[in-house]
Amino acid sequence: MKSIEWLGNVLRILDQTKLPRETAYRDAVSYEEVAEAIETMEVRGAPAIGAAAAYGYVLGALEYKGDREGLKDFMEVVQTRLAQTRPTAVNLFWALRRMEDRLRESREIEDLDDVRKALIEEADNIAEDDRRMNRLIGELGNEIVPEKSNILTHCNAGALATVEYGTALSVIRIAHSSGKAIRVYADETRPLLQGARLTALELMNDKIPVTLIADNMAGFLMQQGKVDLVIVGADRIAANGDTANKIGTYSLAVLAQAHEVPFYVAAPTSTIDLKVATGQEIPIEERAAKEMRECFGVPMAPDEVSVYNPAFDVTPAKYITGIITEKGIVTAPYSVNLLKLMVRS
Ligand code: MRU
Repeated sequence: MKSIEWLGNVLRILDQTKLPRETAYRDAVSYEEVAEAIETMEVRGAPAIGAAAAYGYVLGALEYKGDREGLKDFMEVVQTRLAQTRPTAVNLFWALRRMEDRLRESREIEDLDDVRKALIEEADNIAEDDRRMNRLIGELGNEIVPEKSNILTHCNAGALATVEYGTALSVIRIAHSSGKAIRVYADETRPLLQGARLTALELMNDKIPVTLIADNMAGFLMQQGKVDLVIVGADRIAANGDTANKIGTYSLAVLAQAHEVPFYVAAPTSTIDLKVATGQEIPIEERAAKEMRECFGVPMAPDEVSVYNPAFDVTPAKYITGIITEKGIVTAPYSVNLLKLMVRS
C-alpha cells in the first residue's frame, strides 16, 4: 500500500479516509486537487503530506500556461495554496521550501520544460529522502526495543503516513523482522480512528501481532504491566524537544511516566523545527465539529452540541525518553542535543 505514487504527470493518492473497507485512489492532475486531498486527509501523516505537497507543486508547474517570466509569480500562488492546507506538520513547509529553493536555483534555465524536469527531480528526491530516513529510523530504533516487548502506539505513524515504511512503525517492523517477539497495542485514535483503521491494517498485512484498544484503555494496560514501551510519531518537534503529535499523545506520555514506561518519539529530521523554541509556539490545527459529532457519517452526539476538536497536542520534552531520528537517537538535554544533531551531516 503506497500513500502516494508519482505516475509521470499524475499524483496517485490512496484515499485513506476509505480504509480499511475500500482501496480507492484519487488521480490528482492539479495542485488544487492535491491541496484538497491533504485538507480532507485522503493523504495524511506529516512526511506523506510533505511529499504530496512537493508533487502538488510540480503539478502547479505542469498546469502553468504562461511564459518563463511569469512562472515565479504563479508558483507563489501554488505554494501559498498548498501551505494553507494543514498548519501543524512542519514537513509540509519543509518540502515546499525545498521546492521553492529548487525553483530559485533554476532561474538561469530558460526552457520551461527543463524547469519542470528540475522540479520533478526535487520532488522525487524528497520522496526518496523520506524512504531512506524512515529505513534508518527503523534500524537505529531497533536498539531500544527489548527482545520481547509489548509496544503501545498511537494514531498511524506507518507506511501510510510516509512515503514508505513509516517512522514508529518502521522501528516496529524492523524489530519484528529481526526476530524479536513483538506485540503492538494500537490506540484506536478518536475522532478519525487512524489507529483502528490504518495502523491495525498495516500491522496485520505484515503479520505483526496487533491488539486494538480504545484510547481510554492505555492507563489500565500500563497499570497491569502490559506495556513495555511507547513509540509514537511526530508532526513537529520544537528546538527544546517539545513534540506535537496526534491528540492523545500527551496523555499517553504522562501515563507512561507515571508507570515508568519508556516513551519514544520516532521522526525524521524534516520534522524538527529549530525555528520554534518551545511547543507553545507550534500551531495546533482545529478541525470541523462534524468529526466529533459523527463517526464517519453516523451521528454520535446531539446535532448542535458544542465541540472542541484540536487535531494535535504537545508533549513536553520532559516526558520523552528519546527521539529516534535517521541521524541517531537524541536524549535530554534536547535544546543542546537537537541542535548538535541538526548541524551534523
Ligand atoms: O492528522 P494526521 O492523521 O495527519 O496525524 C498524523 C500523526 O499525528 C502522526 O503521528 C504524525 O504525522 C507522524 S506520521 C509518521
